[in-house]
Amino acid sequence: MRKFLMTFALVLTASAGMAQQKPMDEYINGLMSKMTLKEKIGQLNLMVAGDITTGGKVDTKVAGDILSGNMGGVFNVKGVDKIRALQDIAVKKSRMHIPLIVGMDVIHGYETIFPIPLGTSCSWDIPAIEHSARTAAKEASADGINWTYSPMVDIALDSRWGRVCEGSGEDPYLGSRIAEAMVRGYQGDYSSKENIMACLKHFALYGAVEAGKEYNTVDMSRIRMYNQYFPPYKAAVEAGVGSVMSSFNLVDGIPATANKWLLNDVLRNQWHFNGFVVTDYGSIGEMINHGLGNLQDCSAMTLKAGTDMDMCTQGFVGTLEKSLSEGKVTLADIDTACRRVLEAKYKLGLFKDPYKYLDASRRKRDIFTAQNRAIARSLATESFVLLKNEGNVLPLQKKGKIALIGPLANTRANMAGTWCVSYTPDKYSTLKEGLERAVAGKADLLYAQGSNLTADEALQKAAEFGKTIPRGDDKKLKAEALQIANQSDVIIAAMGECADMSGESSSRSNLELPDVQMSLLRDLVATGKPVVLLNFSGRATVLKWESEHVNAIMNVWFGGSETADAISDVLFGDVNPSGKLTVSLPQSTGQEPLYYNHLPTGRPVPDGTKEFRKYASNYLDVRNDALYPFGYGLSYTTFEYGDIRLSSDKMASDGSIKATINVKNTGSRDGDEIVQLYIHDQVAGISRPVKELKGFQRIHLSAGESKDVTFQITPELLKYYNYNLEYILDPGTFDLMIGPNSSNLKTVSFTVM
Ligand code: BGC
Repeated sequence: MRKFLMTFALVLTASAGMAQQKPMDEYINGLMSKMTLKEKIGQLNLMVAGDITTGGKVDTKVAGDILSGNMGGVFNVKGVDKIRALQDIAVKKSRMHIPLIVGMDVIHGYETIFPIPLGTSCSWDIPAIEHSARTAAKEASADGINWTYSPMVDIALDSRWGRVCEGSGEDPYLGSRIAEAMVRGYQGDYSSKENIMACLKHFALYGAVEAGKEYNTVDMSRIRMYNQYFPPYKAAVEAGVGSVMSSFNLVDGIPATANKWLLNDVLRNQWHFNGFVVTDYGSIGEMINHGLGNLQDCSAMTLKAGTDMDMCTQGFVGTLEKSLSEGKVTLADIDTACRRVLEAKYKLGLFKDPYKYLDASRRKRDIFTAQNRAIARSLATESFVLLKNEGNVLPLQKKGKIALIGPLANTRANMAGTWCVSYTPDKYSTLKEGLERAVAGKADLLYAQGSNLTADEALQKAAEFGKTIPRGDDKKLKAEALQIANQSDVIIAAMGECADMSGESSSRSNLELPDVQMSLLRDLVATGKPVVLLNFSGRATVLKWESEHVNAIMNVWFGGSETADAISDVLFGDVNPSGKLTVSLPQSTGQEPLYYNHLPTGRPVPDGTKEFRKYASNYLDVRNDALYPFGYGLSYTTFEYGDIRLSSDKMASDGSIKATINVKNTGSRDGDEIVQLYIHDQVAGISRPVKELKGFQRIHLSAGESKDVTFQITPELLKYYNYNLEYILDPGTFDLMIGPNSSNLKTVSFTVM
């Protein structure tokens, strides 16, 4: 033991410990002056070391690469023991003793899982979202992780794309506020052991893949990038995000990973990003398929474009030395990337204490605690969106016979949603268990699965979590369900997608409720009993028939580890629902991409038009508007909006005005309302969206209470990027709209002088 301590002390003296006293530049200069070319390139290599490490043992290939200085970081390894074993090799045995950065996809929680990000965004509760990221960082750091691949801030307008579930929906303003909050939540100021580094992703435009097809082509004008897609990335950079992940897709014909304009000109020069850029999984290798050359040329191009770390291709470690000798990259290119990776480790405090995140005693204290779970449960209740509540079926009373029916009702694995690398589903409840707890001793809960997830067995099994839902004979399953439905006073139908029918590689061409579930739902409605549909989904789905026939609909997304209790809280009225949609729900799949902040057309059709109009911009077979619009969501109480009062209807181009509206809770329950502000520039140098969200406030109103809500209108809210990509404000008339959702708005106008 004594011998070990001495060796360790020597290591610290030689590399990290003493020198950490020095400022970052000086420290890293000193370190890099001693590094070989191979060791510098090694810092740019990031590999998965997940399943290949068990207990304290380390896979010999990974161990060898760390030992020889061939690896700067690892990811998706779970547990302090495993990570410590890897860090020991880096810090105690490799020549330069440089600690590893240790990443993981901690997307919406670690073991305490929050709702999928799309669900979380529907809370519009920025402090709560920040708190969720802080809590996720606390848990991840307690288990040895110091870097998360989150937040994902890709604007997504087409719900056929499965990764809609990982972002904050279709709006750049809301998306920006959420992006900043998550960066603050994860990183803090890096001073605490509970702060980890965030990784903004996927830079850029991944959410715009054509036809919503995964990994597909992206092609977009620059004014659209700057005005609609870039804002959340920029906001996260301005909030100080430490790292950025490039996206798989093309930007202007060049893969983002090797796009110099994107990574150098926009990210670093225009936005002043000073952290490091990591590729997405294997994306240098994918450039070969994009037709950009061989691995050596693609790796060189990637480095030169401003990407610093290679996730899983081994293109950098495999080819950069050769490229240097052939003049395809310079030593300065390699040094710059190496420096950025080392700076990240310095900022995290890893040189000062490589074991900062490896305190085995924290697991018990910090992970899946009652306190963390309470935070997740509360955010889950805020994420649910009540879409319909005919005759106030909800909240339910805890009495009589309640039938719980549907393939999502009794599954543990599906509650948390997709992208939960570190989750522990055995600790989570099924919805059935949650409801049983809630009604125990007061009502009878009758349960039947009712149907398979999908009629097509192969489709059900293609989705990993679909496999966890038992398959049976659909006729038999339905007969059992109808039997209990007929005995009950009310039916809760738990239906929709399984957890990974959304997420990466989960595009869908049909957004309707899967066939056998729809057939079951129709029969449940035909019983004449009141039906409450809980729609599980990771995207906007089509609920057309449901909206016309089912009594109550609540979109519950995937609510995380506490889903079961959170749904019970809202169903029985212990919590009044307050979530509002951050994606427009279409009337039919063919409307996608559907989003409220679209540009006007030359042949517009007025909102709400039901009939087809020849030679106007509409479809023969479906109306233009959303079934449920962006910003929409009901409460168990009702809110009434007064008229908008402006402090002045004229605003100087460097001044500001105030817009105030009175909101009254006109129902008999206390509730939260999300008051939304939209702006429209009537005349501009380029065509501008019909409306754009520019502010929101989540307010609490007791029954009968009313409040004035005031928004400050500043030039910043009115500016946009013009044809020359200059950020400008047009003088002239603007419409200002306030209301409970993007289609139900009071409007006034004002003039910017
Ligand atoms: C995903 C990223 C993720 C990475 C590492 C990729 O396939 O696109 O979002 O962070 O894998 O797991």
